[in-house]
Amino acid sequence: MVHLNRIILAVTLTLFTVVSLKAQVPKGGKEISTNLFGLFFEDINYAADGGLYAELVQNRSFEYNPTEQSDWNPFSFWEYISPGFSYGRISVETKAPVHANNPHYMVLEVEHVGHEAKFSGISGVGIKNSGFDGIVVRNGEQYNFSMFAQQLSENPMELLVSLEDAKGEVLASKTIKTNSGDWKKYTAVLNAEASCDSAFLVVLARSNGALAMDMISLFPDKTFKNRANGMRADLAQVLADMKPKFVRFPGGCLVHGDGLGNMYRWKNTIGPLEQRIEQRNIWGYHQSAGLGYFEYFQFCEDIGAKPVPIVPAAVSCQNSGGTWRIGGTGQKALPENEMDEYIQEVLDLIEWANGSVTSVWGGKRAAAGHPEPFNLEYVGIGNEDKITPEFEERFNLIYKAVKEKYPEINVIGTVGPFLEGEDFEKGWEIADQLKLEMVDEHYYTQPEWFLGNQQRYDSYKRNATKVYLGEYASWGNKMWNAIAEAAYMTALERNGDVVAMASYAPLLAKQNFTQWTTDMIFFNNTNICLTPNYHVQKMFMSNQGDFYFDNVVEVAQNDTTLAASCVYDSQSGDIILKMVNAGNSAKTMKINLARFKNMIPKAKLTLLKADPEAENALENPESVVPELSDFTVQKKFDYKVPTMSFSLIRIKAN
Ligand code: AHR
Repeated sequence: MVHLNRIILAVTLTLFTVVSLKAQVPKGGKEISTNLFGLFFEDINYAADGGLYAELVQNRSFEYNPTEQSDWNPFSFWEYISPGFSYGRISVETKAPVHANNPHYMVLEVEHVGHEAKFSGISGVGIKNSGFDGIVVRNGEQYNFSMFAQQLSENPMELLVSLEDAKGEVLASKTIKTNSGDWKKYTAVLNAEASCDSAFLVVLARSNGALAMDMISLFPDKTFKNRANGMRADLAQVLADMKPKFVRFPGGCLVHGDGLGNMYRWKNTIGPLEQRIEQRNIWGYHQSAGLGYFEYFQFCEDIGAKPVPIVPAAVSCQNSGGTWRIGGTGQKALPENEMDEYIQEVLDLIEWANGSVTSVWGGKRAAAGHPEPFNLEYVGIGNEDKITPEFEERFNLIYKAVKEKYPEINVIGTVGPFLEGEDFEKGWEIADQLKLEMVDEHYYTQPEWFLGNQQRYDSYKRNATKVYLGEYASWGNKMWNAIAEAAYMTALERNGDVVAMASYAPLLAKQNFTQWTTDMIFFNNTNICLTPNYHVQKMFMSNQGDFYFDNVVEVAQNDTTLAASCVYDSQSGDIILKMVNAGNSAKTMKINLARFKNMIPKAKLTLLKADPEAENALENPESVVPELSDFTVQKKFDYKVPTMSFSLIRIKAN
């Protein structure tokens, strides 16, 4: 009886909450997507290895090779050392690796350990890694070292693991003794007693004998949310600060790859690190797969964003084999007799993400430490693919299989790399035929285009396939670009009933390792530069609504330098006004808030304003930053939008 009463009470409360929440939404609003703005993550510009992924050792598994860069080999970024007149030899072997997926490892033979090494006074035979452009070490911080080793000689080997600066001064060190003739993982915590921006990791054998080594790894103890195998904390934090509704990964062109053998296959990226399959990155470097599907999903969860994985549509990039930007000849399709297996791989992804712990793939997720499902809602099939008959046939097969087994999953189709043209048209035709939930539009173009095309989605069919604007940016990272994007984003909000999701691209770019010049965040090993575009994205992302209101902000018609939107967040009851002026004089906008009954006049104004040519740089990251101030609103008021600015007023409800 008590139980029944509780149920009745719970049902009544739920009904009351639903009714009262609905009642709070002022009349006249249009429901818009609750997931409008999110992040696009691709491992381009060293965004993953050397970037967001916090591993400090480069080429930890000796898998670098000349197909990635002509002067790379399994020993790249390592150096052989023999301080104190020691001698021995090293070789890269493949005979008995720690795992077949990870074929190369290093064999170190020590014949003689000398004496009197410079500075440290330590002698031995070993190897030294220069990290990704140096290893950043901070005094007082902990660094977690690990490696797989196999004693090849009878006697245990003493290994000195240290962090050293360029002169060989020791910043931290620990000794490890091997004790197994089988591959075994050894770990050590290094406590730094000095700081250095470009240190080396040194592993020095101090006993005669031989051993095999692989997966030599070093992570800062302080990763984002203290995750093992985690993310670089400062970079992850600026992403979390944006409050994205979703994260799309792992690309971009990285998804469909440079030829069939280079497609991103999610199963290669899960499980123990030493068993993952590494590969050449389509952008001309190496993917360790240390940041794999488990890490992507966990990161999404950590920042409260929905995961949006994109899988290949069983075809490779049409620019495969060096036909980049020439177009159309390089697409390769998986042979028909491999399609069943490939389709199963896509279905297994959904089971891995959402299946129960007793399912095969859900069990693997649980074994990795996440018994709860990841609540996957979206899967993208294909990225910017050329819409050929081979593509269409494979897309159809994958789509049908997913929908049959998982009708609740929203499938995102693809409509080519441009805002119009043949692939765009054909991609949309497929979407219409199949009644896809969403398609992925991409465009990179001039800022003037973004200002002049704010009406693009006004004429899209309202009850058809929705748009995921999965990649867009104006060419450049100046204030002028950011303002043009802000104007366009108000139009995305206005069309938030058609545009379900949007993500600026690319996200991250490492200084001196950049393949794509316009990016949202630039970084090096120590600093981060948030572009004006980042600030615009963050202002939109952290101020999303679920209802759009017309006629709240009056904007002069036919003036494409002006744009505005008003959204309402039914969770908080907040009203959010966004006003953009890309012109060269201040302009007044008339605001009418009469329909909102319970607002508190004391509001907050965030203003991003700068010269059109202004930009941020790693050396000067704060020349364009938003300013927050108090602002009092009235039922009706005029707001003078400064020239070249984006104003955001957030009004709280009573
Ligand atoms: O965002 C950079 C690249 O641009 C993506 O990899 C690709 O999808 C697009 O052409």
